[in-house]
Amino acid sequence: MRNLQAIILAAGEGTRMKSELPKVLHPICGRPMIAYALDLAASSGVNHPIVVLGHGADAIKPRLPKDAKPVIQSQRLGTGDAVLAAKKALGSASGAVLILYADTPLLRRTTVQKLVETHFKTGATCTLLTAHLADPSGYGRIIRNETGQVAGIVEEAEANAAERAIREINVGPLVCNTQALLDALTVVKPSASKKEIYLTNAVSHLARQEGTKIQVTRVEEVSEALGINSRAELARATGVIRQRIVDAHLHNGVTIEDPHTTFIDQGVSIGADTVVHPYTVIETGVSIGKRCSIGPFARLRSGVTVAEETRIGNFVELVRTKVGPRVRLNHVSYFGDAVIEEGVNVGAGTITANYDGKDKHPTHVGKGAFLGVDTVLIAPVKIGQGATTGAGSVVPKGHDVPPRSVVVGVPARPLVARTSASADGPPAASKKARMARVKAARRPVRPSHAKKKAMKKQAVKRPAARRTMARARR
Ligand code: UD1
Ligand code: CA
Repeated sequence: MRNLQAIILAAGEGTRMKSELPKVLHPICGRPMIAYALDLAASSGVNHPIVVLGHGADAIKPRLPKDAKPVIQSQRLGTGDAVLAAKKALGSASGAVLILYADTPLLRRTTVQKLVETHFKTGATCTLLTAHLADPSGYGRIIRNETGQVAGIVEEAEANAAERAIREINVGPLVCNTQALLDALTVVKPSASKKEIYLTNAVSHLARQEGTKIQVTRVEEVSEALGINSRAELARATGVIRQRIVDAHLHNGVTIEDPHTTFIDQGVSIGADTVVHPYTVIETGVSIGKRCSIGPFARLRSGVTVAEETRIGNFVELVRTKVGPRVRLNHVSYFGDAVIEEGVNVGAGTITANYDGKDKHPTHVGKGAFLGVDTVLIAPVKIGQGATTGAGSVVPKGHDVPPRSVVVGVPARPLVARTSASADGPPAASKKARMARVKAARRPVRPSHAKKKAMKKQAVKRPAARRTMARARR
């Protein structure tokens, strides 16, 4: 086992975000920024990452995983000071420490793993992660001596013109011998410009010492180096992560017609041969089966599962809803807190009224049910297996619709067959007669033999009639 601990720096104010929300809680594709750093620590084999908090600590703490060890940096005196704030939590200073910044969410796991491996393989005192950027502004620059060895890092605020022209930058994360780093930090003086104790100055101090070895690894892609300090950088990072998510789904056999207008969060599973049409939003935790069709203009929010071969069409919003296989939910619908079983057909404009102003209630639509266009289901309510609702019907709460029955109207009532006698005549005299009426209502309406014949006749007649009219026009 490698003796490696990790410290995540997340105490900064993030002033350039101009936000009341702490910077590291801003979401990127469904997860707070800090979750990406926590992931990197975990995938580097660290179990109890120390998280340095300051600004917004009370809001951040509850969002941390159980195994994280939060510590407070009482005054934000710089990244070096933040590491010192974690000194006690480190316990032993033996082994090495991985430092991660909570505001570099684009780093790949493999990149940080390579950084850690390089450190242990080469037996370096400190191993840095660097990138060559076309525009290095804002980042610390890597200073190398005439033999190409790292001589230090200079922050932009302290850099002279020649140093500012250097394109090799400090991405942020580093692995360092714990004792050596803590010792170096005790001698680092606050910076001239910002009066902060820079972690990077501790690295420069180590580079100047006899017998130390500073190693460097490079990011695989320059986009990984992006640090998030502003909303513009947040938007750029979101774009990069969104593209990575789409690429992973494409790789798994999902068709995504237009990646630029498809917004899929992290932590979404989609089965092979499913097609996602443009302008679709799929949130964290959603799971979609194989051979489905989703969108265009669909929004699948948290707590949604969709089984195989189901169609979710345009302007459909789902939340906390389980949709069975082979369901057709094609147009302008909202379902919240619902279960829709296999083979249900949902008419255009059908919605659940799941919220009564105080609580949310469930809706259950049984297997093979047919919901007519514009049905309103006021929860809690159950639609039985194979039942039908008429167009525009409003099913009141608690008025469960029995299996295979037909309800219509506002409020929805069972449809009773009206023969010419029963429609105008007196109410059915006996129970037997009433039951016969209900049975007739449930029986699917099939045209009589005579009517079918008449329809056929008309169907053949029509083209002939059209021909006559066409001739007449000529
Ligand atoms: C830092 C690096 C710079 C690097 C860049 C990469 C230093 C001095 N500079 O600059 O070399 O190129 O990141 O993005 O380290 N933080 C604390 N406590 C503090 C100050 C900061 O915990 O007192 C945390 C912040 O929350 C943030 C991280 O440390 O997550 C980096 O701080 P930030 O102020 O963003 O540093 P940069 O100026 O971006
Ligand atoms: Ca930063």
